[in-house]
Amino acid sequence: MSLALAKNTEKDLWTILEQMSLRDKIGQLRQVDGSGGRSDSSLLEAIREGRVGSIINVVDPVVVNELQQIALEESPCGIPLVFARDVIHGFKTIFPIPLGQAATWNTNLAKEAARLAASEAYAAGIRWTFAPMIDVSRDPRWGRIAESFGEDPFLNAVFGRALIEGFQGEDLAALGSIAACAKHFVGYGDSEAGIDYSSTNVSEFELRNVHLEPFREAVMAGVASVMSSLSDVDGIPATAHKELIRGVLRDEWGFAGLVVSDWDSIKQLSVHGITSDDKEAAYQAAEARIDIEMTSDMYEKHLEDLVCAGEISGDAVDAMVMSVLTLKQNLGLFNAPYTPRDYKLGASKAEINDCAHHQASESFVLLKNRDAVLPLDQKSIDSVCLVGPMADQPQEQLGTWVFDGDSGLSVTPLKAFQNSLHGDCEVVFEKGLETTRSSCGELAEVAVEKASRSDVVVAIIGEEAILSGEAHCRANINLPGDQVELVRRLKATGKTVIVVILSGRPLTIGNLLPHADAVLFALHPGTMTGPAISDLIFGKAAPSGKLPFTLPKSVGQIPIYYSKKNGGRPATHDSIMSIDDIPAGAEQTSFGMTAFHLDDGFEPLFPFGFGLSYTNFEYSDLTILSNELTQGGELEVSVRVGNVGLKDAYEVVQLYVRDRVGSITRPVRELKAFEKILIPAGQDRDVRFSLSRADVSFYRRCREYGVEPGAFDLWVGGSSLADLHVAFEIDA
Ligand code: GLC
Repeated sequence: MSLALAKNTEKDLWTILEQMSLRDKIGQLRQVDGSGGRSDSSLLEAIREGRVGSIINVVDPVVVNELQQIALEESPCGIPLVFARDVIHGFKTIFPIPLGQAATWNTNLAKEAARLAASEAYAAGIRWTFAPMIDVSRDPRWGRIAESFGEDPFLNAVFGRALIEGFQGEDLAALGSIAACAKHFVGYGDSEAGIDYSSTNVSEFELRNVHLEPFREAVMAGVASVMSSLSDVDGIPATAHKELIRGVLRDEWGFAGLVVSDWDSIKQLSVHGITSDDKEAAYQAAEARIDIEMTSDMYEKHLEDLVCAGEISGDAVDAMVMSVLTLKQNLGLFNAPYTPRDYKLGASKAEINDCAHHQASESFVLLKNRDAVLPLDQKSIDSVCLVGPMADQPQEQLGTWVFDGDSGLSVTPLKAFQNSLHGDCEVVFEKGLETTRSSCGELAEVAVEKASRSDVVVAIIGEEAILSGEAHCRANINLPGDQVELVRRLKATGKTVIVVILSGRPLTIGNLLPHADAVLFALHPGTMTGPAISDLIFGKAAPSGKLPFTLPKSVGQIPIYYSKKNGGRPATHDSIMSIDDIPAGAEQTSFGMTAFHLDDGFEPLFPFGFGLSYTNFEYSDLTILSNELTQGGELEVSVRVGNVGLKDAYEVVQLYVRDRVGSITRPVRELKAFEKILIPAGQDRDVRFSLSRADVSFYRRCREYGVEPGAFDLWVGGSSLADLHVAFEIDA
């Protein structure tokens, strides 16, 4: 019996549903791992018996179509399968990891990259990706910070929207469109101790005002699906969190899409200890309205009994199945279930590479540039010594979550230098260390010797890709191995040393800074890492990245983030003491009773939103043009930004707000808007922002969202330390 829809209407789906047995329905709620492909006889049998609704990890379009044909022609209802994959930051061509995309502060580019990734994935038969990951992440020890858009709710929200729009396009059924999935609902980024799969313990206010915000935006952006987190939120595993999934996501926000569990997360409810057995796990997940069970089979084993026993209603199962059928309908799978063999990518390989190159270039953050040593003038250099364990690593530069990434497409820094400097100056390459975790040995000695005979040294260091990502957390976030020692030895030659760090997370790099004349920091920039670095170092492009996280002085400062609460005794420079200033035998003193560490003070190494350029920008004339917020309108502000240097460059103009008094304490600053603009050397640009009441609303003590009247501060500048200030009031 094939139930292909005559046309895509809701009524037709109900017609299909009415003709399905309970077993058929339960089959639609099951997502299986298809890694075994056509040789997995149990997979083929399950499809034939209608016990599979979607498949993850099949990326061969021929196999996708073969499995689809079995579902359409041999299963009881002939309902098409949907094929899913983690397309996180590219498919074959790899863009910067999401944390690096956030560092561009360029959502248009992120949207374009997602569209191109969708196109490559679509060609492989993929119609559903498990991205964007929008977990607000404030602990760089956590390996999955790599997949997030950093520490700020607003940045995660706007990048999440950009990727959803890129993946899904205007029409989910159009060629090249794939369903997006906002994950991991919710609070996963606050995993205790930065250890994956550990608990999240946050207040309801923190959950609402920080972690839920990006998901609320994703729902408003029309995301097709949401994934529940593997972790527990204040004692309740997200996958069984009825209050958050039914209560907030569906009932309060009106999310009408599909909720998928994370890998085995329904089965793991018993491991968490929230259920005593698998049947109870199935019950609690269904009660929470998890529509699809990823890879475990609790629903397959127990949902029928639960329905027959009246513990789960048939209507509840129908609602879950309708979510699945509706996703498939919206994807056009009832009318066009096969991946067309003649499908053409939405862009040429050159265009995809250009986007990857552009986004990689914009993702680099210039942290130090002593005496404007960068950009280098390749005409005045006879030889450059390229050193480092990340200088020629086509796979490592791709970062985490690149199962389909083609490292053969990678252009490494070495290749890029050889291509771009060909004929101008000699490129001498030495690894210096076998891997980023190696100790200095003969390789280092050779590298130092070669460096001593070159005009300038460029050291490409950082983290291998495997040191970040899921389940790859680090208790110490220093540069691994002897990389700092290698740079110290290179600097001891007396040469100019430019350091480029390629990492999956923020790192504690304070001990590196004294030995580097310039530091460019990037989060695994992907396929086109090399050309991006070459362009930036030799001035074909100017750095425009800004930190989407706070760079701590030490791991002991974590959690440290800009939008903290003021507390009752905030630290100031004149209220703290250094451990080094405390004499031996010091007596107890009441001095310095403020919020700081004796050894590291209260400030990070580099703040959120920070990034240097090859020029300087000056901010002036911050003016409130109008304030209609009390009347329900908007606040309009204008600021003048001047490029006072000699190079054209992009600036990320950032707007922060503080609600001085609230029914709960409010952050000292919150990013509310930004604009990345190109300002030619010597010119000014006036930038306007508007804020609505929604922008200054929050989840209040009364447990409702809204605005609280009072005084507000507003700053605009090039980082979270912006000091150009105006104040405004909201009277009601
Ligand atoms: C993993 C991740 C999730 C991913 C899923 C499928 O455990 O937590 O982000 O989408 O499994 O690969």
